[in-house]
Amino acid sequence: MESGKITWFGPERDAPSGKNDETIDAGGGTVVPGLIDCHTHVVFAGSREDEYVRKIRGESYLQIMQAGGGIRSTMRAVRVATEDELIAQSLPRLRRMLAGGTTTIEIKSGYGLRQADELKMLRVIARLRQLVPMEIVATYLGAHAVPPEFDWRADDYIDAMTEPSLLQTIAREKLADFADAFCEQGAFTVEQARRFLSRCAAHGLRPKVHAEQLSNYGGTRLAAELNAASADHLECIHDEDIAALQATLARREPGVPPRGAPTIPVLLPGCSFFLGTPPADARRLIDAGLPVALATDCNPGSSMIESLPLIMSIAAGQLRMTPAESLVACTANAAAALGRADRLGAIHPGHQADLLILDVPALEQWAYRVGVNAVSHVIKEGCAMTSSL
Ligand code: NIG
Ligand code: FE
Repeated sequence: MESGKITWFGPERDAPSGKNDETIDAGGGTVVPGLIDCHTHVVFAGSREDEYVRKIRGESYLQIMQAGGGIRSTMRAVRVATEDELIAQSLPRLRRMLAGGTTTIEIKSGYGLRQADELKMLRVIARLRQLVPMEIVATYLGAHAVPPEFDWRADDYIDAMTEPSLLQTIAREKLADFADAFCEQGAFTVEQARRFLSRCAAHGLRPKVHAEQLSNYGGTRLAAELNAASADHLECIHDEDIAALQATLARREPGVPPRGAPTIPVLLPGCSFFLGTPPADARRLIDAGLPVALATDCNPGSSMIESLPLIMSIAAGQLRMTPAESLVACTANAAAALGRADRLGAIHPGHQADLLILDVPALEQWAYRVGVNAVSHVIKEGCAMTSSL
């Protein structure tokens, strides 16, 4: 590694001669790329364990949402929180995630649900970059839920959250790279999500979609249509959605004029695990040749899970993903879901030197030791730190 980048990788006997300033002994452990959590809502205030208990007793996520809880409950807590309070709640989560091997993280807004509070969340995400040595990618999730003041007026809400002055501020201050919409009954229709995402795209924010989480609703096909970076969730996906995602792979084939990168399917098995609902059919997607990514979806309502290695264990048991498939899903494919595959997510000369040393002799032992933090060293841009766990 030199200047934060990987310069060479291979068997020791082929190593370039010359003296290194520093040698790190992995001690017989396993070295993997730093993990990339490409879908989170880790900036929030408050806590919703009351809903967790209601769900255990049989209420559904949708029922709780329709009764005024869910996203709106966190919205109320976020609206009254200051930037400093949001940072105080979020920073310990990020530090634990880093210690667990996450070196790059995407964080969404989406709990302010009015202009000033969405900007507040995006500014908190920007400030967190100065406080923790992780690469933080911001997403403007203005279309997460309809707030109470816009009840029955979702179209007006979309207009308010896509006002040119707001989108210009987000673009000018570089407050987000992506825009996201929750496309679902009780949230936003395909038409509303299309309008929100297209207006954001006109200001340089590439689309992402919360798609087919609770029902088959059309979000995945919208994601493919809009050249989205990813379609996320996909618990209720149908064959035509898979075909739409497959068609986006042609965008990266040699000879095809560049039309952007493929739309990456991002699975969030922490959600189905946490809610006790059926998981996405990962095998069907992988066997269809799609570059599946995994993420925690860390949020207070549907996946209060910070650990990507735990997600890899859940993916093994419930999605029948092998440890190698899960590692690619949390590194190279997750980098692609964030438009950063040329720079992150692989041990490759020229890529950023984000590496983990695991105190397990083989990759397979990582997911197998469920809930144990096997990360002994985190190396971010060439700087090594010992995991505090
Ligand atoms: O990805 N589906 C919508 N958004 C989140 C949940 C947010 C919440 O319940 O606070 C998700 O699951
Ligand atoms: Fe989400």
